[in-house]
Amino acid sequence: MLAVAIEKYQARIDEQLTEHLAGLPSIDAPLQAAMTHGALLGGKRIRPFLVYSVGEMLNVDLAKLDPCAAAIECIHAYSLIHDDLPAMDDDDLRRGQPTVHIAFDEANAILAGDALQTLAFEIISRQDLPLRPAQQLALVRCLAKASGFQGMCGGQAIDLNSTNRTIDLETLTQLHTMKTGALIRCAVEMALICADADDATSAALLDYANAVGLAFQVHDDILDITATTEELGKPQGSDTEANKSTYPKLLGLAGAQQCADALIQDALSALTKLPYNSQLLANFARYIIARRT
Ligand code: IPE
Ligand code: IPE
Ligand code: MG
Ligand code: MG
Ligand code: MG
Repeated sequence: MLAVAIEKYQARIDEQLTEHLAGLPSIDAPLQAAMTHGALLGGKRIRPFLVYSVGEMLNVDLAKLDPCAAAIECIHAYSLIHDDLPAMDDDDLRRGQPTVHIAFDEANAILAGDALQTLAFEIISRQDLPLRPAQQLALVRCLAKASGFQGMCGGQAIDLNSTNRTIDLETLTQLHTMKTGALIRCAVEMALICADADDATSAALLDYANAVGLAFQVHDDILDITATTEELGKPQGSDTEANKSTYPKLLGLAGAQQCADALIQDALSALTKLPYNSQLLANFARYIIARRT
């Protein structure tokens, strides 16, 4: 059931992104190709999955969810392009392909990230969407907050500041919650905005999203040690080589695994509060800490 749903939503988001990128007017520069390289060559598409699966559980039309899924994946692709830059993690492989600054150059990788970020906001602010203006404004605000100082960018700044240092668990939790958890939570929040969800439903699903978001990054840290470069499509051991602050570094591999397991238990118990069939979301939470890619 989960694999079928993941594939279905992957195909849908790939179609959406292809349309948005192919629809850009042509310019005499490799920028569009660099954006396409960063956004379209693979990826698990877990943030779009959450937008679609939470939205469909709450009976939202896919036409309302499409722009949300496309926008959040544009932000995610931008974050990866910049994360891989020499000034940040300095990685040369992503999704089994050369990273954007290797396939193109650093200047175009910076611009591709910038342009994907602004494209995200263009997509959710279009006038012809089947959403009310107040919903669109809420979506813009939610995505901006999750991407910027209080979310992904802030988390990446703590990440850089925590490299070659030992930080405490509270700081590490904040780092991971911001750099990765915030966008994952935002995917769920966008679906809640589209659904005009009630407070109880929103609270339970945001608890789920917080736990899944943190567990996702804890497991990403674990995979840096336990998976192969082929499985990951990105360089294994990158965190160790760069002396990053990670869960396994602070708690040991078994401690990090226990922490991820506990978070997924929290996510599953949040789902039990919902008056909906949340089996797909439960399976997705289990997959987050079982995946090898
Ligand atoms: C990688 O994200 C960066 C993190 C936030 C850990 P994903 O693991 O979702 O990357 P793709 O999109 O599937 O390549
Ligand atoms: C990146 O975390 C999170 C982002 C905001 C992109 P990582 O640096 O651990 O992600 P990977 O391992 O390179 O995908
Ligand atoms: Mg990083
Ligand atoms: Mg990285
Ligand atoms: Mg990582």
